[in-house]
Amino acid sequence: MSNAAGSRVFIQEVAVRDGFQIEQRFVPTEEKIALIDRLSRCGLSKIEVTSFSSPKAIPMLADAEAVMRGIERVEGVEYAALVPNLRGCERALSCNVDEINLVMSASESHNRANLAMGCDDSLGQFARIVPLARAHAAVNASLSTAFGCPFEGIVPKRRVLELVARFVDMGIARVSLCDTTGMANPAQVEDIFGAVLRQWPELQVTAHFHNTRGMGLANAAAALRVGVNYFDASLGGLGGCPFAPGATGNVCTEDLVHMFDSMGWNTGVDLIRLLGVAAGLPALVGHDIPGQVLKAGPWTRRYPLPANVCTGTPA
Ligand code: COA
Ligand code: ZN
Repeated sequence: MSNAAGSRVFIQEVAVRDGFQIEQRFVPTEEKIALIDRLSRCGLSKIEVTSFSSPKAIPMLADAEAVMRGIERVEGVEYAALVPNLRGCERALSCNVDEINLVMSASESHNRANLAMGCDDSLGQFARIVPLARAHAAVNASLSTAFGCPFEGIVPKRRVLELVARFVDMGIARVSLCDTTGMANPAQVEDIFGAVLRQWPELQVTAHFHNTRGMGLANAAAALRVGVNYFDASLGGLGGCPFAPGATGNVCTEDLVHMFDSMGWNTGVDLIRLLGVAAGLPALVGHDIPGQVLKAGPWTRRYPLPANVCTGTPA
């Protein structure tokens, strides 16, 4: 890992979906579009634009069609949308999304809290959606609570592997393992991602971490170590599932890019430009944001030596 020598990692921005879904204040549609258009010019490989969930469940993203149709599509950036059911898929396809991001949980109770159905019903929805979606868009399956559930606690690794196997059997070629409430630790991350990548080397596997317990970047470094190259992250560190008690923000995009950059990986992202976009976020959401590099500056930042400090240079 220390010899990255410019190897590529892909940074997938989720602030406008995972972030805005849990904000107190509705971010106006035009402001969402303007933010996405700025993000599109930062070198991110994918932007999760919105979710086609029920507006009753997620009122903050009730403008999904308007946002998806209003943004400028920049070449080289994939535009994805979260989809919980068949209705959501039809709505997303009507807006020409590049990727349908299906969602279900590894734990039964969180699936019911989040999606008002059991895991088997979600799998049934997936099975109907995949043949419909595949002709028009890439399909990703996001598995929430893959590293622990706020209701049930430990989620066995074999449960995660079983569900990934179901996705692969359906013809899904992209899978995200999501640590919905920041319960994962780096050893567990290495274990689970390592097992998935060994079993399905062709699968495009994304790590989706929340920093709820301060382990987000450590978990990202652990995932990288075992071969994960796709990472979800959220500008400013916004984010959280409204149906997972105690949920807080994702790993912060600019902090993640800064870490990978300083380790010698090629993120494709223009960090300075991204920091410029992040700087506008507190005014947009009306509160401070958890991101740290925006406050501290990149590690290359230097300060003038105070005048009263002796430098040892002869007078
Ligand atoms: N988009 C818009 N409306 C939808 C919809 C969708 N994808 N799916 C269902 N609806 C509407 C139905 O038309 C129905 O409308 P009506 O009350 O006007 O008749 C209503 O929602 C209820 O439909 P039903 O199928 O019974 O849904 P539900 O109430 O059981 O909710 C979900 C199920 C999956 C739609 C809902 O729980 C949901 O959207 N969850 C997403 C949660 C999420 O995004 N979490 C954050 C990401 S981790
Ligand atoms: Zn999330």
